[in-house]
Amino acid sequence: MDVHNIVMDDPERGIFRVHRSALTSDEVFELEQRRIFDHSWLYFAHESELRNPGDYRRRTIAGRPMFIVRGKDGEVRAFLNTCTHRGALVCRHDEGTAESFQCFYHGWTFNNRGELAGLPGSDAYAEAFDRRELGLKPVPRLESYRGMYFVSMDPGIPDLVTYLGGLRHYIDLTMDSAEALGGWEVVAGTAKFTIKANWKLIVENSLDAYHLPTVHQTYVDYMDTRLEAVGASRMQMQSRLSGQSNGVSYPRGHGGFLHFAPGRTIANLSPLWSESAQTEVTRIREELIQRYGVERGSEMADRSRHLLIFPNLLFQDSHTGFRFRQIWPVSPSELRVEQYDLVPRDEQPELRSYRLEWSRAFLGPGGLATPDDVEALESCQKGYGARELEWNDLSRGMHRQPLASDEVQIRGFWRQWHYLLGGRPAGSEAGDRPPAPVPVHA
Ligand code: FES
Ligand code: FE
Repeated sequence: MDVHNIVMDDPERGIFRVHRSALTSDEVFELEQRRIFDHSWLYFAHESELRNPGDYRRRTIAGRPMFIVRGKDGEVRAFLNTCTHRGALVCRHDEGTAESFQCFYHGWTFNNRGELAGLPGSDAYAEAFDRRELGLKPVPRLESYRGMYFVSMDPGIPDLVTYLGGLRHYIDLTMDSAEALGGWEVVAGTAKFTIKANWKLIVENSLDAYHLPTVHQTYVDYMDTRLEAVGASRMQMQSRLSGQSNGVSYPRGHGGFLHFAPGRTIANLSPLWSESAQTEVTRIREELIQRYGVERGSEMADRSRHLLIFPNLLFQDSHTGFRFRQIWPVSPSELRVEQYDLVPRDEQPELRSYRLEWSRAFLGPGGLATPDDVEALESCQKGYGARELEWNDLSRGMHRQPLASDEVQIRGFWRQWHYLLGGRPAGSEAGDRPPAPVPVHA
């Protein structure tokens, strides 16, 4: 299959299809690494993980070992995690605080600003050997937005603010909503798991409200039972998602779905909470409205945001907590999830424990939702073994104002994916994606 024809986008007829080789082929997998992951902004870490000089996080980003560290001078830098001597990993722990990083192989030492500070037996080197040239190699681009640090391997990529574009509206709502509570901070620990499915399937799944009443029936039933037991109304998740929600799609493949949930945490779960926790959530909501006005305050407090920052960061702020879920391709048929929960720094401990309980209960790797999603994704991947059926359909809602349960946000992802992979900017002027796509790399 030619990558130019791998996405079929026909807004006039309301047809959108993706060829299944996009989800199975080794060639596509290789192209994605070079043309998408090497030319996008990729999330690295949150500022709360790098509060003090020397704080660092080690992660694999776009297939490269990297680490990010706040230097003694207060500046945050991201480096390729490879010794400039002969290559060993210089940072050998996932997180910590360090004044310097000593390579364990021959003992070259780099300070937390990346400079080569010392090496054993330096008198063995000629005069032309200049240690200033042998500092750690910085990642080509590093920028932050609202406390989120992103890197890019593409030195020419537009700045992060431009890249995020209109999606910033929703990011700001979430970030502002915790301002009065000390801002967001990442909770210690990361959920990491792999799924035997193509990475794009979980991106689709995380933007897909269509599957909730079917795949997550167990969760809906469980919640209904618990809520009924305390005399509260049923969740009616299905009608909420289809009736008071919508999908959004922005240039460069960002998008998501939003749904209305008065008080967010209040509406769905608080009947199960203690009285003091309910009072506190109501107080927070009122404070947001007072601080930001009715419109913005209630948009913060009453609307869940399930967003994708293209290509692989899911920004999920809903009644089950706030988390970043980052998706990495492992092979055409395997993906890896790295998931970080965030909480307002000064939130009451009781609220924090409810928040984390519901996050784990729904989207933790052993929660009531994730295993069902995993089953669905792995099932799709197995289905692609039947190669005679070549196309997936993603046409839902192309002819109307998109609801969350439509697939507009998933089409937005695929259009940008296709564009970057080398295809034409298919459907850039028509269909349900209002602005034309803007390339991040020609
Ligand atoms: Fe690092 Fe030799 S490889 S000191
Ligand atoms: Fe799901």
